[in-house]
Amino acid sequence: MQNSSSVIGEAKVDGVWDTSSLYMKKYGAGERILWTVDVTLSFGGVRALDRVSIVVRKGELLGLIGPNGAGKTSLLNVISGVYKPEKGRVFFKGIDISNLKPHERARLGIARTFQHGEMFHSMTVLETIMLRLHPWHRGSIVEAALWAFRAKRWEVEAREKAEYVIDLLDLHEYRHMPVGALPPGVQKKVDLAAAMVQDPEVILMDEPMAGLSREEKDDIVRAIIEIRETRGTTMVLVEHDLEVVTDICDRVVVMDRGKVIFDGPPHEAVKDEAVITAYIGG
Ligand SMILES: Nc1ncnc2c1ncn2[C@@H]1O[C@H](COP(=O)(O)OP(=O)(O)O)[C@@H](O)[C@H]1O
Ligand SMILES: [Mg+2]
Repeated sequence: MQNSSSVIGEAKVDGVWDTSSLYMKKYGAGERILWTVDVTLSFGGVRALDRVSIVVRKGELLGLIGPNGAGKTSLLNVISGVYKPEKGRVFFKGIDISNLKPHERARLGIARTFQHGEMFHSMTVLETIMLRLHPWHRGSIVEAALWAFRAKRWEVEAREKAEYVIDLLDLHEYRHMPVGALPPGVQKKVDLAAAMVQDPEVILMDEPMAGLSREEKDDIVRAIIEIRETRGTTMVLVEHDLEVVTDICDRVVVMDRGKVIFDGPPHEAVKDEAVITAYIGG
């Protein structure tokens, strides 16, 4: 197993040109933690991702933006292992994770939230969060059987971890309520809490503020900032609201029709010709 090293000043990554190295030199950002190399994915005739290479640096909050159908969700699905690309590789901390299953990637430290919050509506907030820690979620039957012997201890530990994120995301008053009965903004926070309970190094968030009111959005933004400050979690945020992105992201990658069209500071992105055209066109 190869460890990631600082790449500041390096131009090539695993033999492949790292197009972000100029940015790194300029802004002195942290070392790479997660990156894709030339990822290509098609659905029928649609090229959802076209040779996408992005770099995520340790500790940063990276905004991933672009018009509808740009390929943002597809990219998160490739990174988390839900989709297998036709071409290209995904690396995490220097390891090629391209052939790992989603739960194996989660175990390594990559968590995600979902654009259409995939939770069981009849389960309570506490149960939903604890479920993510359950060994069944970890894949192997043998492992699950071994775990069953230690079920009690598991439950105590899981509850402790769940209570920690409930506290972190201010979900106390909802913990015994069914997820389906909660307002959309709180459901999004539960989804975030369920991702955070795995104590990930990187969290991929797919439009955690979509469809929320201004107030609910502010609440999620506060939660994101709180997580960064207390846990130092590296974050990738897919978001439509450009104001939010320019406010809180360290850097943005802009996609359009499956391609990366911009990579740099948020305040430059909103002035970039290609970005403006993509947004107007979309
Ligand atoms: N499961 C799928 N089946 C067929 N086409 C898909 C699927 N997922 C995404 N696509 C297509 O891939 C393109 C990129 O979609 P997506 O990654 O969801 O974009 P975004 O999240 O940026 O809106 C779109 O043209 C979309 O219709
Ligand atoms: Mg999407």
